[in-house]
Amino acid sequence: MRHFLSILDLEREEAQRLVKRAKEIKDAKWHSNLLQDRVLALIFSKSSTRTRVSFEVAVRHLGGSTIFMTPRDCQLGRSEPLTDTARVLSRYVDGVIIRTFAQSSLEAFALCSYIPVINALTDKFHPCQVMSDLLTIYERTPDFSHLKIAWVGDGNNMANSWINAAIYFPFQLNIACPQGYEPDAEVLDNALNKGAKIFCTHDPKEAVRGANYINTDVWASMGQEDEEEARKIVFRDFQLNKELLALADPDAKVMHCLPAHRGEEITDEVLESKFCLVWDQAENRLHMQKAILELLFS
Ligand code: CP
Ligand code: NVA
Repeated sequence: MRHFLSILDLEREEAQRLVKRAKEIKDAKWHSNLLQDRVLALIFSKSSTRTRVSFEVAVRHLGGSTIFMTPRDCQLGRSEPLTDTARVLSRYVDGVIIRTFAQSSLEAFALCSYIPVINALTDKFHPCQVMSDLLTIYERTPDFSHLKIAWVGDGNNMANSWINAAIYFPFQLNIACPQGYEPDAEVLDNALNKGAKIFCTHDPKEAVRGANYINTDVWASMGQEDEEEARKIVFRDFQLNKELLALADPDAKVMHCLPAHRGEEITDEVLESKFCLVWDQAENRLHMQKAILELLFS
């Protein structure tokens, strides 16, 4: 029995194999009875369109069923500890997919759980999204070793997961964040110590120069709603627009995990351009979720 709480819960070869397997799953339009008679619970403390629907559909395509809960619908909302909930759910269902705030809450849940736990996003990491973004890149450029991938914006859960991915995949990762909004220092130090090729700057132009893929994300993540207005000022030079894109490789592609705030971190023009991969990224969530479920439940 194993959990998927961060990309680093995989071995390097496993992470690389998972991307290839997700591509096979996509090409084969894979359905199976792998999860027949199995039930997975989704506990989401934050909103979700892509992660929720792609996991629920993936489970059904693999013959299983799901129960979706928010803290409001269960005793978590009345302060029943996560750790008690983990032990109770372990007696009923076969796996739990959790979207919550603190990574430590997810880890505490997993520690008490007798069934696999999957991270559907925390404040610290969004591993399923970045694994599926790696599939989106792999489909176009299967050799990662010459790729320059840029991250422009907040040093958030997505940025931290990209840093973890850079340990296992041989691309150059350029990160540009405003001062004070850098990624998690421990996550970054660990990656650098493990030989990841990562360059951090406060200048988006420097990060984007010659890049093959440029990633961004919202300036205020879920849970940071009260910082939204202040962040609009801090991040105003970190918008992905035509001018910034002009510095990248001429064939550069733009990525965003969505939902996007057009006119803030990305212009409408760039989001709607032929360089933008967001709809493929959204689709690939489904194929990668199946690959992750197969890895944990086979
Ligand atoms: N990208 C992503 O995780 O989207 P949702 O919040 O809609 O799940
Ligand atoms: N960084 C964003 C990602 C949403 C999918 C957030 O946490 O809200």
